[in-house]
Amino acid sequence: MSISRVSIVGAGLMGAGIAQSIAAAPALVAKKIQVTLVDVTQDRLDNGKKIIHQSLARIAKKKFDGDAAKSGEFVDSILSSIAFKTDAGAAASESDLIIEAIVENLDAKQKLFRDLDTRAPKHAIFASNTSSLPIAEIAKSTLSRRDRFAGLHFFNPVPQMKLVEIVRTKELSQDVFVGLKQLVKDMDKVGVECKDTPGFIVNRLLVPYMLEAVRLVERGDATKEDVDIAMKLGAGYPMGPFELADYVGLDTTQFITEGWYKAGKGLQGKELVQPPESLVKLVGEGKLGRKSGAGFYDYGKK
Ligand code: 3HC
Repeated sequence: MSISRVSIVGAGLMGAGIAQSIAAAPALVAKKIQVTLVDVTQDRLDNGKKIIHQSLARIAKKKFDGDAAKSGEFVDSILSSIAFKTDAGAAASESDLIIEAIVENLDAKQKLFRDLDTRAPKHAIFASNTSSLPIAEIAKSTLSRRDRFAGLHFFNPVPQMKLVEIVRTKELSQDVFVGLKQLVKDMDKVGVECKDTPGFIVNRLLVPYMLEAVRLVERGDATKEDVDIAMKLGAGYPMGPFELADYVGLDTTQFITEGWYKAGKGLQGKELVQPPESLVKLVGEGKLGRKSGAGFYDYGKK
């Protein structure tokens, strides 16, 4: 199984991070991998380019100890190796692997893959970066590609986070799984295998933990500031649960929990993912976390 042309559809934070991480990985540069980032408008692509530029500049500053010339060269060489396109079908027709990182909506994902299924070569692998939707449901939109349809779940910030969950449906072929595992390894990340269950591994544990932190504060048992300090200093987490919820986005957290809660049946411990009142209230007020300038904490105006 040879993956030498990869398209990432969706140029938001996750898609841009995935494109960057593939384009910058030395093992994949050596294999002359071709990376294309796709979104529906030029504006969105420009925003994706900006996200990649900022992240690479941050890495370069450290790597080259503030040497502006070397940093600039590093950033430009990686950025210029990525193709930016607005036509997903055209990109798919020249891809061995297509990774989807668009809006977290089943209909939108199914529609995208239904279209791409008619354009991509027969051998091409499809992968979704969904954090909460069942991979098998998304894969239903393709006609004959269910053995080549997997979950590749990355974590924010993608260039920094080492983990990728490789989600294996019952129909995924062993060859494709092995090929994806190798790609993840070549990205200098670590792949873990998980079944197609709600939240896979990380979110199945992380989301109830964040929600329980919210409930703990709602009960008046501690302040959010003290909960964050406690989990950083007492459990060694890099961020406390409120800082993390603001970082992930409160709308994203609410969306994931509501989806699981409503889908309900078959989910053990359903009450663990019931969206807490204060989370719902903040989202209703447009306080979505860092990206909107306020969430559980205030980050100053955006
Ligand atoms: N691009 C490149 N590098 C980045 C970066 C980015 N976007 N963001 C952070 N970094 C790098 C910094 O350059 C720095 O590098 P260095 O160690 O070489 O100096 C390093 O990360 C640490 O960054 P900072 O010093 O600025 O800040 P922190 O030490 O606080 O680390 C953090 C920031 C990496 C975000 C850390 O706080 C962390 O790991 N937080 C937890 C993140 C987490 O749990 N993510 C998972 C969320 S769940 C998810 O994504 C699933 C989804 O489905 C919802």
